Amino acid sequence: MPSFPSYRPRRLRRTAALRRLVRETWLQPSQLVLPLFVRSGTAIRQPVDSMPGVDQTSVDELLRDAREAASLGVSGVLLFGIPDRKDATGSEAWNDDAPVQQAIRALKRELPDLVVITDVCLCEYTEHGHCGVIRDGAVDNDATLELLAREAVSHARAGADIIAPSDMMDGRVAAIRAALDNEGFSEIPILAYAAKFAGPFYGPFREAAESTPQFGDRRAYQMDAANADEALREVFLDIEEGADMVMVKPAGPFLDIIHRVKAETGYPVAAYQVSGEYAMIQAAGERGWIDRERVMMDSLLSIRRAGADVIITYFAREAARLLARH
Ligand code: PBG
Repeated sequence: MPSFPSYRPRRLRRTAALRRLVRETWLQPSQLVLPLFVRSGTAIRQPVDSMPGVDQTSVDELLRDAREAASLGVSGVLLFGIPDRKDATGSEAWNDDAPVQQAIRALKRELPDLVVITDVCLCEYTEHGHCGVIRDGAVDNDATLELLAREAVSHARAGADIIAPSDMMDGRVAAIRAALDNEGFSEIPILAYAAKFAGPFYGPFREAAESTPQFGDRRAYQMDAANADEALREVFLDIEEGADMVMVKPAGPFLDIIHRVKAETGYPVAAYQVSGEYAMIQAAGERGWIDRERVMMDSLLSIRRAGADVIITYFAREAARLLARH
């Protein structure tokens, strides 16, 4: 490595053209996925208070959002459902006529080239708000696997392009892979929420998805924010069980994990910029304390630079629109 004055890093920063020439990381609309919340009814658009710019919508309104995303070059959407009724096992999750399943069919009919990813979990569907069935006051891992598999098969039957389990039960990727294969969906890929950390960054989402746990929290199944080596074990386990892509979540506070997962697996890595990350940028922007658009773009670029191939973000449309201008 040469030193000053023979090496002057500023030489390549002098003009916008030079900076562009040596730029290492690019953000493109095709790398973005937009999460959407669907509920039953028509012409419904219900704002989520803690996530300005995000709504729960009925299928017809969801199609408008999806069409806009697709026209901006966004590659895919990630669907979450708000069911009409909840019960102890979350049985609406595998109802072929529930809002998510209807949304999948409508999307594949209207926008066949938009990648439809579905979140597979029970927390939106159970009356207690946990991600699996409860036995003796705790989430019963093995009894939950079969239910997740049913939900995944129902999504595949409706036409989902990618199945994304987010429940963090042990063994769920293998259970879902086997069920999909068994039902003739061996070509449908699994994007595993492999390194999903428990914590406060999901707060606003739980209002959006109406999935707040009614007792306790998710620390007995989601990961401890302190653990990086364990995140790698989770990732390798999911790959061994048949995951085609792996996810790190949240994204911004866990850039080190994204970097290690990409470097050590070489697998396609998705990172989820979650509701709390979104809400913080929106809130500070609203107050005029930060330049909202620039912080948004830098936050996404950082996630890419860390090693993510795909970014799931509530900013997908806005970011794609800005990218088209530059
Ligand atoms: C379902 C799920 C959650 C998120 C994605 N899938 C909530 C949770 O685990 O409590 C969070 C997404 C976000 O905060 O934007 N388990």
